[in-house]
Amino acid sequence: MKKQYKRILITAALPYANGKIHLGHLAGAYLPADIYARYQRAKKKEVVFICGSDEHGVPITITAENEKTTPQKIVDRYHELNKQTFEKFGMSFDNYSRTSIPLHHQTAQEFFLKMYNAGILIEKKEKQLYDEKVKMFLPDRYVEGTCPKCGAEDARGDQCEKCGTFLSPNEIINPRSKITGETPVLKETSHWYFPLGKYQKRLQDYIKEKNEEDGWRENVLKYCQTWFNEGLQDRAVTRDLQWGVPVPIAGYENKVLYVWFEAVLGYISSTKEWSYKQNHQKWREFWLSEDTKYVAFIGKDNVVFHCIVFPAMLMAWNDNSEDKYVLPTNVPANEFLNLEGQKFSKSRGWGLYVDEFLEKYPADSLRYALTINLPEMRDSDFYWSDFQARHNNELANTLGNFVNRTLTFVHKNYNGKVPAIGKISELDENFINEMRKAPEIIGNLIEKYRFRDATLEMMNLARLANKYFNDAEPWKTLKQAPDRCSTTIYLCLNAVKALSILFEPVLPFTSKKIRKMLNLKDNYYWDDASELSMKSGEQIGEIEILFNKIENEFISESSQLMSEGPVMTQEVMQKQTVTIEEFKKLDLRVAKVIECEKVQKSNKLLKLQVKIGNEIKQLVAGIAQHYQPEELVGKNIIVVKNLQKTSIMGIDSEGMMLAASDQNGKLVYITTSTDIEDGSIVK
Ligand code: 2FM
Ligand code: ZN
Repeated sequence: MKKQYKRILITAALPYANGKIHLGHLAGAYLPADIYARYQRAKKKEVVFICGSDEHGVPITITAENEKTTPQKIVDRYHELNKQTFEKFGMSFDNYSRTSIPLHHQTAQEFFLKMYNAGILIEKKEKQLYDEKVKMFLPDRYVEGTCPKCGAEDARGDQCEKCGTFLSPNEIINPRSKITGETPVLKETSHWYFPLGKYQKRLQDYIKEKNEEDGWRENVLKYCQTWFNEGLQDRAVTRDLQWGVPVPIAGYENKVLYVWFEAVLGYISSTKEWSYKQNHQKWREFWLSEDTKYVAFIGKDNVVFHCIVFPAMLMAWNDNSEDKYVLPTNVPANEFLNLEGQKFSKSRGWGLYVDEFLEKYPADSLRYALTINLPEMRDSDFYWSDFQARHNNELANTLGNFVNRTLTFVHKNYNGKVPAIGKISELDENFINEMRKAPEIIGNLIEKYRFRDATLEMMNLARLANKYFNDAEPWKTLKQAPDRCSTTIYLCLNAVKALSILFEPVLPFTSKKIRKMLNLKDNYYWDDASELSMKSGEQIGEIEILFNKIENEFISESSQLMSEGPVMTQEVMQKQTVTIEEFKKLDLRVAKVIECEKVQKSNKLLKLQVKIGNEIKQLVAGIAQHYQPEELVGKNIIVVKNLQKTSIMGIDSEGMMLAASDQNGKLVYITTSTDIEDGSIVK
């Protein structure tokens, strides 16, 4: 029999506060976690949903160095930004904390000391790479060099991006320090290790038991098995770094806890923070009880830390304390989301940031398109064309249309009041049955972490409702058989209400709007979706259009701007090396702008006619927010002349104008320092 839990603890991986959240992040951990949390709340379960910024570790210090600033500045910036982005996206975290706060430092140090005092940790001396110029040991990502497996010349100390092999800095051939470019030397240092191998049998039993109970994903089990097959090794829990949680023992003053050791404990400290803010101790009920179901949502790259390292740490604590922490009941990790067939890559400038996306499109449309394409079993893709089609055909034409036609009918023919239910026909009966079954069908899929299928079922109900409306033909029965008509509309109104409940986990903003239109409170119970609970005679609210169609031109502008790269331009990017032959393929020229005008219906685009020697070419450039057309006429610019012709918002563009962002984000065109004749080659 399935275990009955009193409460549900939900965590979503803590994103590093060194960059903005992109669509891949959402599809990996955050959106599934939010759908699950919203559903469980609608089921009236006691839920806490926890997240926060992961503010330590080498990715942060490297970003700070690249941007010539301090790690604190970096995490302050991205913590705030990501927190806001998550809110705009509709994430319903109960707490969004950060790992640089004292409460987290204390929690992490307490864990370390518990293990240290219990004699669990082992101290080892070993030689590690050291940069003599800056007098610093080089943690994994601070080392670059040749991959011992595939020979790639830009492998990182922890992993080779080209062949995917996990590496340790000492394996890298011809290592270079990322800070100074110097060749590091080997120098002795000491660190504390957690003996993961000693926990292997217990971890295997734990995963087996939880899998039997709650059905773990095949991919997650497979990753774990690979680790078990190789045999778990001791893992260092301290690092030679300044930025992080200080190691709380003598002789380790210049070292910090390894980021992964403390980041997972961020879930606990964030729950404590949530609790303390409200002056209660509920974090204890959630974490220190066998009656808690704990579900940890992550992306696949985090599996080993959540299914192996974290549970082993909790076991070690539990063996030595009265307080016993709950271990994850399930770790539903998603695979990766790709963008138009290619991997998201900060270094290649290929990706889509959520905050920028949400400036143009509604959060619910993104939530829907992502959920339908979640990489639950294997990697999946985000395509602009699919996004547009889902929004237009499913959200606008199916869901939006059904809600709109029903409510319009009520306002027009029943003075905005819920009509009475009369005699039930066979057609009605079948429709009522479908509505009755839906909450359980969808709920079961969500309980099984099958969010894609659950969402397909939600949309199926909307489709069915439209079909019922068509088949029942209320516009005909209104005069011919008023009792039939009011029954039809009564049932349709109940279907609108059911859709507001069942879609809420995926479309929270839309659901709220629908409930407002129905004059219903937001506090409801999931199973109410199957009840005919609308009250005849009650007044409904004003109608609002739920989804406006997305036009082709708009989508084409978005995707074009994305592939030109400005989506990621705020980041410090390290592009792949190109050979001189590759560079020479570009035909860069000086060009004179002879005409320039705004592209209609676009805020960002200008259309330019440029003269390149004897030729006139037309370009479309995304700089309308930075220049008035007349400012550019007569100016010399630099263009890529041989770029493949493309069409942006239906206008041909036969090249690309070069520009750079200044400190204020203004895109400034590139020109030559003296007035060189147009057509001249740039080399
Ligand atoms: O992969 C990442 O972005 C990590 N910052 C996730 C950490 S999850 C947990 F350990 F906090
Ligand atoms: Zn390699």
